[in-house]
Amino acid sequence: MSALPGPDSRAIALSFAPMQVEDLDEVMAIESVAYPFPWTHGNFLDSLYSGYEMSAVRLPSGLLVGYYLLMLSVDEAHLLNITVRPELQGRGFGRRMLDHMVEVARAHKMQSVLLEVRPSNDQAVMVYERYGFAGIGVRRAYYPAGDNKREDAIVMRLVL
Ligand SMILES: CC(C)(COP(=O)(O)OP(=O)(O)OC[C@H]1O[C@@H](n2cnc3c(N)ncnc32)[C@H](O)[C@@H]1OP(=O)(O)O)[C@@H](O)C(=O)NCCC(=O)NCCS
Repeated sequence: MSALPGPDSRAIALSFAPMQVEDLDEVMAIESVAYPFPWTHGNFLDSLYSGYEMSAVRLPSGLLVGYYLLMLSVDEAHLLNITVRPELQGRGFGRRMLDHMVEVARAHKMQSVLLEVRPSNDQAVMVYERYGFAGIGVRRAYYPAGDNKREDAIVMRLVL
């Protein structure tokens, strides 16, 4: 891969476009390396057909930086997935994607955003806390884990 951006992404013009079926091969290439238990192609396809707010985020070169999926309900949005390409994590792209997600949620008159995160995913928990999400509960045995076990989910909420 050529010309990856440096450690600070703030000067880079990102494009946020609605995710399309045509993006899914690139999305899956990131998803499958970013998680021990990735979503499947079918999960993304179902989400597209469900009409969720799904953003594909690209560098000016066209490289897919990451994506997020937001489900809107009456006044509470649910952040179902947010992922930054592993080699571009820790450079501020995740924060910019969260900013965009918040704009979309506010434009739809949402009052809050909920998400689930694995307690073992320290990095993501820190990012969310730093952004202003607060833990509000636990969903027991929510995620698949190794050895046929399950892992709890921390439920976090951002009040808009
Ligand atoms: C979680 C994720 C989306 C965050 O994106 P990112 O680009 O790495 O995050 P950023 O670089 O924008 O960091 C966001 C903020 O968190 C802070 N932060 C990041 N890692 C941190 C850590 N370990 N401790 C404390 N703060 C941290 C950053 O300093 C930044 O705050 P600032 O803007 O005030 O300086 C990304 O790491 C990712 O895709 N992880 C793998 C997939 C995943 O776990 N997704 C979430 C599933 S619930």
